[in-house]
Amino acid sequence: KQRVLSGVQPTGNYHLGNYLGAIRNWVEGQSEYENYLFVADLHAITVPHEPKQLASDTYTLVALYLACGLDLNYSTIFVQSHVSAHSELTWLLNCITPLNWLQDMIQFKEKAVKQGENVSAGLLDYPVLMASDILLYQADKVPVGEDQKQHLELTRDIAARFNHLFAQPDRPVLKLPDPLIRKEGARVMSLADGKRKMSKSDPSDLSRINLLDPPDQIQYKIKRCKTDPIRGLTFDDPERPECNNLLTLYTLLSGKTKEEVAAECQDMGWGQFKPLFTETTIAALKPIQEKYQAITEDKSYLESVLRDGREKAEAIANQTLAQVKAALGYSTPL
Ligand code: TYM
Repeated sequence: KQRVLSGVQPTGNYHLGNYLGAIRNWVEGQSEYENYLFVADLHAITVPHEPKQLASDTYTLVALYLACGLDLNYSTIFVQSHVSAHSELTWLLNCITPLNWLQDMIQFKEKAVKQGENVSAGLLDYPVLMASDILLYQADKVPVGEDQKQHLELTRDIAARFNHLFAQPDRPVLKLPDPLIRKEGARVMSLADGKRKMSKSDPSDLSRINLLDPPDQIQYKIKRCKTDPIRGLTFDDPERPECNNLLTLYTLLSGKTKEEVAAECQDMGWGQFKPLFTETTIAALKPIQEKYQAITEDKSYLESVLRDGREKAEAIANQTLAQVKAALGYSTPL
């Protein structure tokens, strides 16, 4: 089986973009692959964070992974900081990554502007940590949303550079992964602005639908979301980004095809569409929320999942780390 690896940062506010761009795609493909899915808690401290929240946000995310349908028969779930090979490989790869590759990353530039004076070295190094996450497991496929595409290209570049510098041409040490980015759902937009992506860090909670929002909250957010004054709803009109986003969300959450939704909504006004969309969203999230409630009450179960996950993840990660260190010429620890 091919190997899949992916992760989400434990920064709270897990939303429909995280679900439709990433987690749902992990679940749908999981029986075809050997899956390693983790909580990216080392990435979570690249911008200022709240120590009191970090562990509980991590457990919430693990419970959500399971509630969304990850099956432990196919998937290993673990926490990044529990497997020290992630930090160690990052150091080694730092030393072969040209600085200007990192300075050119779009997400670094965007986040650095927001942080002002307080940009950490960790924020610049974020993509090397991400490359280490992926390369440690020799992953074939990395299912993510569109915003991670550039980080995956960098991961391939780092792996290729490492192999070129330190491996025999016929025996590469690191596997070059392929991104797995679905067309629909890869870029879920904000409810407040169809030109900006839905984001955990948007200060307005009205800009996103969180997976754990109660029904009345979902209803309120959809009632308040940005639309336009045009009657008749259509996909793919560049003048109507909000319309395209809401129809796309409705399509993905209802399980209907794009053609079916286009036909259903072509004569509708917003007053008709919004209640329909609200009902569909609440119904799609209900089973996830119910399962989440049941799982999250059982902390010892979550701990056993993570203990097991760490053991399986470490077995593979440590093997790759040893190969990388050998290729770099390190002596074996005695
Ligand atoms: P994070 O936590 O920002 O996002 C987690 C996943 O959700 C996707 N995503 C979206 N997809 C569609 N529309 C949106 N509006 C939207 N917002 C977020 C992201 O593309 C991502 O797939 N760097 C990663 C975490 C990470 C990782 C990795 C991922 C660390 N190491 C190794 C894959 C492989 C991140 O910031 O995720």
